[in-house]
Amino acid sequence: MNLPIAVLVSGRGSNLGALITANDAGTLPVEFALVASDKADAPALRNAEAHGIPTLALDPKSYGHRRDFDEALFARVAESGAELVVLAGFMRVLDGAVVDAWQGRIINIHPSLLPKYRGLHTHRRAIAARDTEHGTSVHFVTAELDGGPVIAQARIPIHAGDSEEILAARLLAQEHRLIVACVDAIARGRVLLRNGLVHWNGKAIAEPLRLNRDGILTS
Ligand code: GRF
Repeated sequence: MNLPIAVLVSGRGSNLGALITANDAGTLPVEFALVASDKADAPALRNAEAHGIPTLALDPKSYGHRRDFDEALFARVAESGAELVVLAGFMRVLDGAVVDAWQGRIINIHPSLLPKYRGLHTHRRAIAARDTEHGTSVHFVTAELDGGPVIAQARIPIHAGDSEEILAARLLAQEHRLIVACVDAIARGRVLLRNGLVHWNGKAIAEPLRLNRDGILTS
């Protein structure tokens, strides 16, 4: 059976696009219950609409407190029947109590090799630190920003002369493969969170899974 998912987005939506493409190709066993955004003009919403996916735009300014917005948003997510929430470029920090209620059922994609470079400007920071390697992580979301248990990572080299934009573009292609592989693994019951630990095929993992060249997760 296909896993009903909700995808939360704030902008471009290329990671959402990768999930839709894989689903259309018949290789990703999910159904899109909802695509929701805090920005009514997010291009990601237009892409979802074009694919006949239910969409929702909620304006944070209409809510007194951050928590009220988050509760309203997740009430709508719950109503949609989603069993997994994918944060794919959702540029808001979620309330801790709301996140706790969905523990093990929310994941986020972040453009760094966590725990390195939580927060913004990850590509710029990796170049400034003269790192030779960069990457992207998919993790279960906890109340700590970009701090939840990491499921899997994809790595790329940083080349001499890489600009922030070039590095970001090269990494984005890996993000697309990683988010599809992680959602696929969760949908098939191969990855789950138990007692705060990521489990892979029934066993807790000490290190994040890696995405290999064929787009397959390995331990
Ligand atoms: C991605 O780099 C993702 O890792 C980060 O926000 C960006 C979203 O890009 N959290 P897109 O909207 O999916 O194209």
